[in-house]
Amino acid sequence: MNLYEAIYARHSVRKFCMEPVEDKVIDGIFHFLQEAKPLFPEIRICCRVYPERGEKPRLSGFSNVSAPHYLALFSENKEKSELNAGYVMEQIVLYLTSRGLGSCYQGMAKKHVPELKQEGLSCVMVLAFGYPKNPGKGKEARRLPMEELCAFKNQPKAHIRELLEAARLAPSSLNSQPWRFVVYENRFHIFSRKPAGGRHWLNKYDEFNFGVMLANVMEAAEELWIDVEMIKLDNITHIELPNNRYVISVILGLDKW
Ligand SMILES: Cc1cc2nc3c(=O)[nH]c(=O)nc-3n(C[C@H](O)[C@H](O)[C@H](O)COP(=O)(O)O)c2cc1C
Repeated sequence: MNLYEAIYARHSVRKFCMEPVEDKVIDGIFHFLQEAKPLFPEIRICCRVYPERGEKPRLSGFSNVSAPHYLALFSENKEKSELNAGYVMEQIVLYLTSRGLGSCYQGMAKKHVPELKQEGLSCVMVLAFGYPKNPGKGKEARRLPMEELCAFKNQPKAHIRELLEAARLAPSSLNSQPWRFVVYENRFHIFSRKPAGGRHWLNKYDEFNFGVMLANVMEAAEELWIDVEMIKLDNITHIELPNNRYVISVILGLDKW
């Protein structure tokens, strides 16, 4: 299974075999990380896997999942660092899925590492992972239908549809799916939906969620061998989407127009 296929196969796993995974698999994660593409390479990040040899995992905060391993992503605290963290961690999740491992984001867990703190790196997200207890038990992702997520302005090209499907399948905290898309033939504009019930606009994990979703889009683009540009446009004010805020646009490379 490659990373693109993993977008379709992935689901949160909350029951694990408690045997540790092989050392070579853990090494594989760190090799993969050297090739994983951050959204903002200038933001320093690092990942660690717990428990370290012979130790207990000892996370702080709250983790609702018992797993043999937890991967913690640490980052500098800068503008867009959570977006960047979500983008990198989803690539790790897809890598783990492609290797037959299950995982679950643990939004309320944290790992405090004083020596990393001194270097200006703090824990953004923890991911529980290991071999799933019930490996065959894949279930269909519960997601909003495309028509509910998208406002179609033109008939999109097939490639745009495939990128949107990868976006639609992305996991999000509490399955909130905070994204909405305004779709044209060769581009789509991404908006953040205002949450219902008067909650604060950007929930705690929204920026991270958008990073996760953009990683799926870029992975699909890579699989389809298409160049896409992800840019924030200045002249987007003509698009009205009530109760939504503009985030970024995904534009097909000129040769595919
Ligand atoms: C940022 C983020 C935080 C999450 N935190 C938790 C968590 O603390 N506990 C948990 O069981 N699942 C957590 N999840 C998993 C989501 O609940 C899950 O991805 C979503 O319901 C969609 O289901 P699926 O992953 O099976 O497709 C989190 C997901 C994301 C993206």
